[in-house]
Amino acid sequence: MFEERLKEAALRIQRHFDSVFAEFEDVPVTQAMAYAIYGGKRLRGFLAIETARLHGVDIKRAIWPATAAEALHAYSLVHDDLPCMDDDDLRRGLPTVHIKWDEATAVLAGDGLQTLAFDLVLRPEVGTEAVRADLGRSLARASGATGMVLGQALDMAAESARTTLSLEEIRYLQENKTGALIRWSAEAGARIAGDDPSAFGAYAKALGLAFQIADDILDIEGDVRTVGKAVGKDLDAGKATFVAILGLDEAKRRARNLVDEACDCIARYGDEAESLREIAHYVITRNA
Ligand code: IPE
Ligand code: IPE
Ligand code: MG
Ligand code: MG
Ligand code: MG
Repeated sequence: MFEERLKEAALRIQRHFDSVFAEFEDVPVTQAMAYAIYGGKRLRGFLAIETARLHGVDIKRAIWPATAAEALHAYSLVHDDLPCMDDDDLRRGLPTVHIKWDEATAVLAGDGLQTLAFDLVLRPEVGTEAVRADLGRSLARASGATGMVLGQALDMAAESARTTLSLEEIRYLQENKTGALIRWSAEAGARIAGDDPSAFGAYAKALGLAFQIADDILDIEGDVRTVGKAVGKDLDAGKATFVAILGLDEAKRRARNLVDEACDCIARYGDEAESLREIAHYVITRNA
């Protein structure tokens, strides 16, 4: 049931991107953008769609913030893979954008995807001006120097300094790097309905941390053919991860506790929130 729902959301998201990209001129940078958008688990889009459904918001409106989250995420991956950052050749089972095209195209495709995210979330179909302003501003804060960009910068700084961060410092880094956009995605449903997003913020804060711990575990235990990206790089690169300082067993235990914590935050939504509990469990049991 949950897997079908996730698959259906992923299909809808791809169809929506197909129609958005059909309006663009067919040039290398838009080809690279469409290439980078393709694939992935669509977890962030799913969170936006499911939390919107929980607030009685139609998918025709929810698809805009869902695709905005995925466009922003795809941009972050294109730049994350660049030689000046993680220097990766494989993403979602395919050559990364700078390998398939070149670095300039990857930088520009990332830029184009980032601005596309704001185009998508500010469309008139999404809702009132107040709702769109709230979604746009909160997306900017989750993505930029108070969110993902801050986390990526801390990640890069820790790597080059080769110092060991404390647990608290790593938590702060991960909360920004990965957590902020996951949180925005899970809050999107409440925001679009004009409701208080705080329960979903607390849910996503725990979920985002569990998600990044699982990503770091996959770097150690995953198989490149299923994960679809390089594995076994974080330790040598000196990445600041929970696994690096806690070890695998303790990191796994923390991830499980975080998933329980995430589920507790949405207990009052009962059966209606079952898919949000299932995705929380999926996040730490996935093999990709
Ligand atoms: C990978 O995110 C990058 C991180 C933030 C750790 P995902 O694991 O959600 O990547 P896709 O979208 O499924 O490819
Ligand atoms: C990347 O984290 C997070 C963002 C892109 C914001 P990672 O560097 O661990 O992601 P992967 O492992 O390359 O997907
Ligand atoms: Mg990285
Ligand atoms: Mg990376
Ligand atoms: Mg990783």
